[in-house]
Amino acid sequence: MRSHHTHSSSSSSSFSFIFIFILFLFFISFSFATPKLEPTKPKPKRRQPISAILVFGDSTVDPGNNNYIETIFKCNFPPYGLDFKNKIPTGRFCNGRLVTDFIGSYIGVKENVPPYLDPNLGINELISGVSFASAGSGFDPLTPAIGNVIDIPTQLEYFREYKRKLEGKMGKQQMEKHIGEALFCVSAATNDFVINYFALPIRRKTFTIEAYQQFVIYNLKQFIQDLWKEGARKIGVAGLPPIGCLPIVITLFSGEALTNRRCIDRFSAVATNYNFHLQKELGLMQMSLAHLGSKIFYLDVYNPINEIIHDYQKFGFEEVSSGCCGSGYLEASILCNPKSYVCPNTSAYVFFDSIHPSEKTYFLLFRSLRPLYDSILGCL
Ligand SMILES: *[C@@H]1O[C@H](CO)[C@@H](O)[C@H](O)[C@H]1NC(C)=O
Repeated sequence: MRSHHTHSSSSSSSFSFIFIFILFLFFISFSFATPKLEPTKPKPKRRQPISAILVFGDSTVDPGNNNYIETIFKCNFPPYGLDFKNKIPTGRFCNGRLVTDFIGSYIGVKENVPPYLDPNLGINELISGVSFASAGSGFDPLTPAIGNVIDIPTQLEYFREYKRKLEGKMGKQQMEKHIGEALFCVSAATNDFVINYFALPIRRKTFTIEAYQQFVIYNLKQFIQDLWKEGARKIGVAGLPPIGCLPIVITLFSGEALTNRRCIDRFSAVATNYNFHLQKELGLMQMSLAHLGSKIFYLDVYNPINEIIHDYQKFGFEEVSSGCCGSGYLEASILCNPKSYVCPNTSAYVFFDSIHPSEKTYFLLFRSLRPLYDSILGCL
């Protein structure tokens, strides 16, 4: 195993405390407002308890684990984080918060999901949830090796270590209950296709695109099964976005990168095809495990993002084919840095850098996923 270490700061515990306190006030006032003696009334719909949010994957859900490892896939410097609380460049590949941050606050476990490798996390911050994700990672073992980032088996190993820490605090039985009631989010595969398969020659020599899709899905399924064996029960798995619309893909593969910037359909078709198979496989897994209390579900990111891109003006965006940082055509990670030009209004951009959505796009994506979370986590 590689050694991941260093020092850094960032604790949102006082903010979480205020957040929880406000929730507490809300429940107090709610319980006073509700008459208590009405035994005939049917029980109100109540959410199943969600104990924590636990996240695995790539830069779409990495809140800064890469700050603590040696890789070029980093972004803990401006202009990243410019719309984050106190403008902190946390290591999120975004100007602000990620979808998993919005989900974490929505289900009421925490305001922002911190990176597991942050050495300053207290036990309560750990308990309510962390992200093990690493920018540049993917399900093909070759993908994380390209950028020397944290591969999926190592993310799983960190999760096992995480469980041991919780067990030390609350005991085995309570820890297992806690994990069973946690919400798991898995989001990766863009790097497998965009960086590994299409930009490098190795995989294309040995795999057709169809075979590569099956290979990525096979690895993903193995991972979901491993999570299941570790006690995960509620697992949401994101599909691919329309990869043909990523500004960097348009720049590298369209042949008309300067004159006619628009989505490349043959790339996005790879994503829809992958998503189709992924959805089918997750459906089969869910069917075989439902009787054991599992909720394995597909998260559609393709259609919401596709709609935003094709109907961008409806959502108040002005620019869709280039990112806010630098020229917007190529810059991401260390190429998007304190010396880069930054657009005056991040909310007008669908993408913040040439690969990653802006916070506003992530928020709209979260909003489109919210009904799914309501139906999955709501109790009937
Ligand atoms: C930024 O852009 C958004 C969306 O186009 C718009 O609603 C907002 O008013 C703009 N803000 C500023 C300060 O120009």
